[in-house]
Amino acid sequence: VYGRIPQIELVSACDVSTDNLDAVSRTFGVKSTYTDYSEMLDNEDLDIVSIVTPSYTHSSFAVTGAQHGCNIFVEKPMAPTLDEADRMIGAAEQNNVRLAVDENWRWLPEFVRAKQCIDDGVIGEVYLIQLEEFIWWTMAEKYKKQSRFLIQEQTVHFIDLLRWLSNSNADSVYACTRNVPSLGIAGESVAAITVKFRNGAIGIVTDNFAARGKQYSMKGRIEGTRGSILLNWDRPLEVYSDIIGGFLVPNIDGEYPMMQTQPLSRNFEWPQSNLINATGKALSSLIQSIENGQDPPTSGRDNRRDIEIMVAAYESTEKGHAVILQQS
Ligand SMILES: NC(=O)c1ccc[n+]([C@@H]2O[C@H](COP(=O)([O-])OP(=O)(O)OC[C@H]3O[C@@H](n4cnc5c(N)ncnc54)[C@H](O)[C@@H]3O)[C@@H](O)[C@H]2O)c1
Repeated sequence: VYGRIPQIELVSACDVSTDNLDAVSRTFGVKSTYTDYSEMLDNEDLDIVSIVTPSYTHSSFAVTGAQHGCNIFVEKPMAPTLDEADRMIGAAEQNNVRLAVDENWRWLPEFVRAKQCIDDGVIGEVYLIQLEEFIWWTMAEKYKKQSRFLIQEQTVHFIDLLRWLSNSNADSVYACTRNVPSLGIAGESVAAITVKFRNGAIGIVTDNFAARGKQYSMKGRIEGTRGSILLNWDRPLEVYSDIIGGFLVPNIDGEYPMMQTQPLSRNFEWPQSNLINATGKALSSLIQSIENGQDPPTSGRDNRRDIEIMVAAYESTEKGHAVILQQS
């Protein structure tokens, strides 16, 4: 990711594992390496720290980084709790640095396109968004002991997408989770979450990391009063619009049927979904925000709203009823 962005020079790396540090040194030619984060911050003059460590470490690393005057690019979830998220936001604001969360899925071409169709008014007023993922996750092993797993480590991406695509913030959250023993982890491996948004839209996510048979991620459907968008995972999205008068398969070459009756307002490349590219774009948005002196799109304050929904989903599961969010 870092090597693809011209403004980025990878100056230094820190990891508790010397094996991982050696690998980073060898692969990316980073000469300055540390096993102690504070020591790295004291010795190096860094503009940005990119925090790619386990989620429970994000808050303390972000706060210390901000106190050293570094802008922060932190992996999702921003933090497991609202208190930790608030400390990060506070430290960034007090030290006048920018904080961006790598909610990279917003930059996946399917979602960029879907969002622009929505914002162009192509499907009218969005009232229902349903997203789903069914996979068997072989890397679950490393998260084996976490009591909170799927929503915190993965479904939070979908939560962010629901909020972003609905152009609204959550009013209430109802969630159910399950542990499927065959996956061999302590936390939840299945989550079903319903979010009611303040503008009346309903968001639904079904996420399963213990699925057998056909696997897919990022499938879904967005319903508007004048049309709909189908997110097809391994195929381009399909748009139906009363306003344009037909089906659209935006900007693809001959492989899929073109039933386009009229081009949409913008042109797009259609690369395969690529999370690394998407993270590069998320990081570029932070650089742009530093240059412009404005908050990045996935700022700490913005992302706190995802954490609020995530925390409410766990609370709803435990209590067995919907959780109403505070209006903020
Ligand atoms: N945005 C995405 O698409 C995406 C994808 C995968 C993971 N993530 C997120 O990235 C983060 C890291 O996930 P992962 O699976 O790579 O985690 P991981 O457990 O593999 O840890 C990543 C690295 O952090 C190091 N580390 C752990 N504790 C440390 C500490 N206290 N100080 C310094 N280094 C430490 C580890 O040695 C390892 O090299 C998580 O927050 C995860 O949710 C995001």
